[in-house]
Amino acid sequence: MEEKFIVRNYFNETGFERWKRIYGDEAVNRVQYSIRVGHQRTVDQVLAWLSDVQGRTVCDAGCGLGSLSIPLAERGAIVYATDISEKMVEEARRRAESALPHCDRLRFEVCDLENLSGRYEIVVCLDVLIHYPLTQVEKMLDHLSARATHRLVLTYAPKTLFFSLLKRIGQLFPGASKTTRAYQHRSRDIEEILVRRGWKIVNRAAIDDKFYFARLILAER
Ligand SMILES: C[S@@+](CC[C@H](N)C(=O)[O-])C[C@H]1O[C@@H](n2cnc3c(N)ncnc32)[C@H](O)[C@@H]1O
Repeated sequence: MEEKFIVRNYFNETGFERWKRIYGDEAVNRVQYSIRVGHQRTVDQVLAWLSDVQGRTVCDAGCGLGSLSIPLAERGAIVYATDISEKMVEEARRRAESALPHCDRLRFEVCDLENLSGRYEIVVCLDVLIHYPLTQVEKMLDHLSARATHRLVLTYAPKTLFFSLLKRIGQLFPGASKTTRAYQHRSRDIEEILVRRGWKIVNRAAIDDKFYFARLILAER
């Protein structure tokens, strides 16, 4: 089965329940807590980089439960948030309605990022590329690049020895039923793809917690 369908099924079934807990505030195990903390640091870093979003159009590709889309809309951005999973989008809409009732700057839709259309000043894609091998990531970045006029913000899981070891001993991804395959990427590979598409990397951040490892990039043109 194609990677994308495996990922979609996962985020509509067991993955939905798991990530709803991680991206929530109920009690979780220590692996999930570490992912929650690391992910929140990623969101906070993006919000700090995008401090001038008032009135700007933002596409949040693979928006999950709206952890970034909702605060962006709160700060005055006009946000188009999409995700491949119907369940994630349904829960994101529920959270948005409760955090920002009747907000007309925030729209959620079910759509995989390969089929996104339109142009946005800023395109963001957080913690999605980890689900795909490099050949697919390259196509995805192609498509996202064509959607973004000014800025592109993304994360990927770094290919480091430590992360590989953790993965191998199964601490980070405990059991096929709990997660999909996790792909790590070399910074050089990701940055080369972006530079070939005309992007200039203007900021980088490494966000590591015990069980959360992300490299965050802000690119501009
Ligand atoms: C780990 S979650 C991250 C969610 C969100 N970006 C965040 O940081 O809060 C990964 C999300 O990517 C979505 N996703 C995976 N592959 C996708 C694709 N090809 N197109 C759109 N969304 C995708 C999943 O459904 C899931 O909601």
